[in-house]
Formats: sequence, C-alpha cells, structure tokens
Amino acid sequence: MCGIVGYIGKRDVAPLLLEGLQRLEYRGYDSAGIVITSPKASGLKMVKAKGRVRDLEAKVPKRFAGTTGIAHTRWATHGAPSDENAHPHLDSEGKVAVVHNGIIDNATELRAKLVADGIEFLSETDTEVLVHLVARSQAVTLEEKVREALRHVEGTYGVAVMHADFSDRIVVARNGSPVVLGIGEKEMFVASDIAALVSHTRQIVTLEDGEMATLKADDFRTYTTEGSRTTATPTTVEWEAESYDMGGHDTYMHKEISEQSDAVDRVLRGRIDDRFSTVHLGGLNLDAREARGIRRVKILGCGTSYHAGMIGAQLIEELARIPADAEPASEFRYRNPVVDPDTLYVAVSQSGETYDVLAAVQELKRKGARVLGVVNVVGSAIAREADGGMYVHAGPEVCVVSTKCFTNTVVAFALLALHLGRIRDLSVSDGKRLIAGLRKLPAQIAAILETEEEIKKIAEEYAGAQSMMFIGRVRGYPVALEASLKLKEISYIHAEAYPASELKHGPLALIEPALPTVAIVPDDELLEKNRAALEEIKARSGRILAVAHREQEKADHTIVVPKNETELDPILMGIPLQLLAYHTALAMGRDIDKPRNLAKSVTVE
Ligand code: AGP
Repeated sequence: MCGIVGYIGKRDVAPLLLEGLQRLEYRGYDSAGIVITSPKASGLKMVKAKGRVRDLEAKVPKRFAGTTGIAHTRWATHGAPSDENAHPHLDSEGKVAVVHNGIIDNATELRAKLVADGIEFLSETDTEVLVHLVARSQAVTLEEKVREALRHVEGTYGVAVMHADFSDRIVVARNGSPVVLGIGEKEMFVASDIAALVSHTRQIVTLEDGEMATLKADDFRTYTTEGSRTTATPTTVEWEAESYDMGGHDTYMHKEISEQSDAVDRVLRGRIDDRFSTVHLGGLNLDAREARGIRRVKILGCGTSYHAGMIGAQLIEELARIPADAEPASEFRYRNPVVDPDTLYVAVSQSGETYDVLAAVQELKRKGARVLGVVNVVGSAIAREADGGMYVHAGPEVCVVSTKCFTNTVVAFALLALHLGRIRDLSVSDGKRLIAGLRKLPAQIAAILETEEEIKKIAEEYAGAQSMMFIGRVRGYPVALEASLKLKEISYIHAEAYPASELKHGPLALIEPALPTVAIVPDDELLEKNRAALEEIKARSGRILAVAHREQEKADHTIVVPKNETELDPILMGIPLQLLAYHTALAMGRDIDKPRNLAKSVTVE
C-alpha cells in the first residue's frame, strides 16, 4: 500500500512531490524516495531515506531543481525498511527510475535470470527487477520499453517510470494497484491516491487494470499494455482539498471521529422517502422485482469493513428477513466458494482498493454473481467493478484506523436493509420508526462526542493494561470486535472480542483484576443476559467498563449512550469505544495516525 506521486510540468518539482508524499504517508511510511530531472538536465537526481517523509526532506539538498519527478513512500513487503530498499530504484547506469506499488509474484525467478546475465542488484525488493527489465529493453520508445518489461511480470503493480533519455515524459501502468492521473493546466500529475492530487487539480483520470499512460507537460494519453489507445475521460473529484487537512485537530483520527455527525448527515442526505417510509438507493441497479428474488445476502470485507458488514448482515436479516451473513473477503476467495445466482453479494470497502476484496469481487463476477459495492472512495476499483452499490459519503478518511467510515458504512447498511425490508414485509410503521431513528443519529452522535473528557479519564486508567477483553451479544458482538480492533491498532495493547455467551466456555479463565473487560450492554431483549455476564466477571474480580443506555451497577465504569431504535443502537455504541482507543493510545504516546506495521489501504494480498 505504498504511496506514489509524480509530476511533469514547469514548476519546481521537488516541493510538489514532497507535499504529495506527506498526503500519501498514511498509505505506508517506513521509507521514502524521490527522483527528478528536467529537459535540460544531464540525467536523473535521486534521494532516498529510511523513515518518514520528513527524514527524506531533511536529506534533499538545497539545490535540487527539476520539473519532472516521481516519488514514493513505502510499506515494506519484500525487504526491510532501509535506504537501499526505498523506492525509486535505478538501473545500473542510473538512467531509468521506477516506483512501484504492488507485488511482483515472479520476482525471484526474474531476479535469478537478471543476476545470471550479470545484473548487480542493490536492494532486496521485488520492484528492482522492473527497472532492470526496462533498462535492458532494446525497444525504441519508453512506452514500448515499459510494455516489454511488464510482459515478463506476474503480479500486481501501480508503477511510474522515468528515463534520462526521455525526460519529456513519465510512463505509468496499472494492474491491481491504483493509479490516478491529475490533469492540470500545462502540467500533469500521477498518484496512487487522489489525496495527493486534489490540492492541484480536481480533474482526474483513473486508470483501469491493464492500462498505461504517457504524461507530458501539456498532454497525456492512455493505452493498454498491448499498446492500443484507450479513451480517458477526466472526472471531477467531489472532495475538496481542504477536506484532507487536519482542520485544527491534533490527529486525523480525532478529526474523523469528530466529523461523524456531519458524515452521517451526508450518508442519509437525499435517500429518505417519507412518502413510502423507505429509502431511495439509485445506484443499486436492482429493481424491486430483482430485489424480491434475492434468497440470501453475503457480505464481504476486511478488517473494520468486515465488522461493519457483520452489523449489516444482522440488519438485513432483522429488517428484510433475508438470510444474511458476513465473511472476511480473503477467507471467502480462497475457499473455492459455491456462488449462488440467487445470492446478492455485497463488497464493503472504505478505500475501494483493498486487494482481497477486489479479488473476491472479480472472482464473483467471473462466476456470474451479482455484486454490490458499499464503498467510500468514489470511482475506486471495487466501486467500478461492482454491478451497482452505494457510496457511504464519509469524506476522505486519512487516518489508518477507520472510524467515521465504519459508522457511515453501518448506516448505509441500515438504509439498504430498510430498502429491502420495505420491498418485502417490513411495515409502514416500522419504516417510519426506523427513519425517525436514522434522523436522530447525527444529534445523538454529537451528544456522545460531548462526553469525550469522561471517556479520556477512563482510557487513562486502562492505558496500563497488558490485554483487554471486549464482549457483546448478537448486535453487540460486532461492536465488540470493532472496538477491540481499534484498541489493538493504535495502542498495541492485545485485545480480543468474544460473544458474551461464550465467556463461560473458556475465556472466563482469563478474567482477573489485571484484565479489564469492556461490555456492550444495550437496553434490548438481551439486557438481562448481558447483566448475567457482568455478574460472572465481577464474581471473579474482573474490572468492567460497560457501554450501555443506563448505569450498570456491576460495572466499575459505565459510558451511557443515547437510546435509539434497537436495530440502530450498534451504530451509537461503537463511538465511545473509538474515543477509548484514541485516548488510551494517546496516553501511551503512540503514533495515532500512523500506527506501526499498518497502512491505510491494503492493495496487496
Ligand atoms: C481499519 O481500522 C483497519 N485499518 C483495516 O482493518 C481496514 O478496515 C481494512 O484494511 C479494510 O480496508 P477498506 O475498508 O479500505 O477495504
């Protein structure tokens, strides 16, 4: 999930690329590099650094002028973070430079052949094979050199190539990892994510898999890896540049948690139909008759999106009475699934680029399945691959850990469940009840965010824990899973989540004062069962933090959240636990927006 950014035009390229890398750093941040040139330059100039973009910036010489360049911020897959393994990679003569996002599956075999031909490798990366393949090509044009090199490659790539003998262009290619062109006035940009482009242009062209492009200062053209021209129509990015700014918050995570009222407002906007007590979801491409023919719903996602899908499956079963379940996309695609034509498949992804989800969608499409996308990034690969779907309109989510997008995705599923339910047997009064509940969410979220100081105090108490247990039942279990992931991701405290009913089947052995338990205890039909679980824990001197609709006398602390409709309560119960994870990590001095070992968009498998 590396970050790629490139520029060709008239401006001083190094500051533009370094600013772009800063915006992409959430995609990977263990090393970075930049290479530049200009029509009058005698060759390529490169600087690379292990560490963050600021470490690279510190190494860039004062006089480092150029008008064409590519740069990269890395999330290591092959080879530890180091200056040598940082991209760009140069060929032996220093005339060709490549930056790459993805994995070259046959890199070992290609490297062996190149070494046998006398090529000396300077890094441990898979990417370096690419630069030597381009350099050794006898083809006349840079485009053909790159095409020839890519014909040897198996695997995924988003790649940008520069060549000292072709300093008037940058050649890029995409197969499985995102590449987006930014179309400017007598200047062109390329990036692996629109975040690096929107401050310069909102006219973008998203390359498809198997597509390449040549960027020149005043022109661009796209074509396939076989060389046949393709037509690329620029689209306008809906997100403003400033929506990528931190907006006065100390971290993106805090900003994105704080934005959730407005974000939920956006996912609801224009979709509620009071006349028929239902919702309009225009992009589903699924008419009422087709919707009635659905016999099952299978939701696929990874990480937080998988957890949102679990809540979505419960909402669809509860409101539309269609059997539904969620499964990690990576598990699904590798178990040779039986694909059923009467099943509606739903792919969930904030980035819309998660490789495991995209590959599952492509496998489903290959087998003739109908796939919807529930996605945040407009125009992303999964959104384009799906037969229809809905955007969750959370706005750009920069922090590696997902918060506002999780909430918006669950609300999107509530809308989908309501839509399917009202096509079937969900009553008008239930429709009205749920619409009223949905409309209360933004204000209720704001009320929860007002309790941040209280949650901060509790978090500071838990910051010393070695491990934490999260429990919930039915609707509360995915909330527990997601809260435990949030805590793990940014505090590095080991945490696990269990169905509360499962505690007595083993995990209860872990309970002791040193192991705090966070319990999701909504005022629903399982309240007494959940209270029984609190008793079991208390009887073994376990510490309890309850998230509930009223004080829980067995808990050491209770975070009280506003009551909504029972089906929608999970949306609200997760929000204080985002703040719990945030303040626990803060108290531990963790790097909130760039947790170790992680990256925002996992575009490799
Ligand atoms: C979110 O907190 C995690 N960083 C991660 O699990 C993420 O949800 C997962 O990688 C899926 O990403 P996607 O939603 O962009 O597909």
